[in-house]
Amino acid sequence: MLNVGVVGATGMVGEVFMEILGKHRFPIKNLRPFASEKSEGLKIKACGKEWSVESLKPNCFDGLDLVFFSSGDDISKEWAPQAMKSGAFAIDNSAAFRMNPDYPLVVPEVNAHRLPPRSRPTIIANPNCSTIQLVVALQALRSFGLKEVRVASYQSVSGAGKAGPEELLNQTKEQIQTGQIKSKPQTFAHEIAFNCIPQIGSFDESGFCSEELKIINETRKIMELPNLKVSSFTVRVPTLNAHSEAVWVTFEKPVTRAQMHSALESAPGLRFVPQREGKDYPTAREVSGQDPVYVGRVHQDLSDPNTWLMWVVGDNILKGAALNGLQIAQKIFG
Ligand SMILES: NC(=O)c1ccc[n+]([C@@H]2O[C@H](COP(=O)([O-])OP(=O)(O)OC[C@H]3O[C@@H](n4cnc5c(N)ncnc54)[C@H](OP(=O)(O)O)[C@@H]3O)[C@@H](O)[C@H]2O)c1
Repeated sequence: MLNVGVVGATGMVGEVFMEILGKHRFPIKNLRPFASEKSEGLKIKACGKEWSVESLKPNCFDGLDLVFFSSGDDISKEWAPQAMKSGAFAIDNSAAFRMNPDYPLVVPEVNAHRLPPRSRPTIIANPNCSTIQLVVALQALRSFGLKEVRVASYQSVSGAGKAGPEELLNQTKEQIQTGQIKSKPQTFAHEIAFNCIPQIGSFDESGFCSEELKIINETRKIMELPNLKVSSFTVRVPTLNAHSEAVWVTFEKPVTRAQMHSALESAPGLRFVPQREGKDYPTAREVSGQDPVYVGRVHQDLSDPNTWLMWVVGDNILKGAALNGLQIAQKIFG
């Protein structure tokens, strides 16, 4: 039985952490939710009990075996090393440690071998949500020899935290009730209602935005393929939850339809949707709330027999964040 902390327990990802700990019967002895000072004392129900939210204070992680972090980069940078010092594993959803060579970046279906033994508490980085669903699908096809990956994403507003869906719903209401949106966008760079925004995060001088660079760099690190050609273009769309990706994968040699289907059907963490009828493919609305990564619309490129296209959809809060974190913990403590 474990003593577990959840930092950011009142947020989009943290709330789901609290929920799935009970659902997956994680062996909890004591559960300690943390959030900002404004949430101190708030009661959260999880694992059949009510727990009181605390704020972060020096030595607050003493006695814990494991702390899940989902409060953003700055909080993780400051507090995850403190959890480690207190003898706990820190499983971190932020980007703070993902590309740090000293810490593993783990998707259990792909590189569980990077996890340390239970006796060596450390920080373990949970990858970016769009990267997780991509690498679960790529891992299924790895044996064909990955040469190049291109991905265009269609990412839901829940990826921006609790403020994302709130902004989409408010703007939608405003548009319907008044015929226009007058309120200023707060969370996204432009109005997200009835719109698509080709920016997630900030741009650098290369013209790529931070979300795109996360997908490129994290995919290479997790798959241990530092020279893999990866390119990505990320777009925020007005869906509430679950991210969709159009992916082009080029292999070293031609791959048959039967080989593709067989590899995808048997892959862990993945649900393959064969296209028997015209509208057989996964969509964000259907996949929202589900654990597996869904793959559909698998077809060969017309101009290159070594390239296949596919549609990859995953719940960004579940497999893209909390569920992947929990699976990491299950591997360590299981
Ligand atoms: N949303 C996603 O799809 C997704 C996917 C993968 C990774 N992530 C990462 O997960 C993290 C959280 O994202 P989210 O979407 O859950 O955001 P969110 O809904 O905005 O939640 C933020 C959480 O951080 C807490 N927090 C704020 N200031 C704090 C402080 N000073 N001390 C302790 N806690 C504090 C908030 O508590 P209060 O309620 O008290 O303000 C809240 O619980 C981010 O690093 C994000 O990049 C998110």
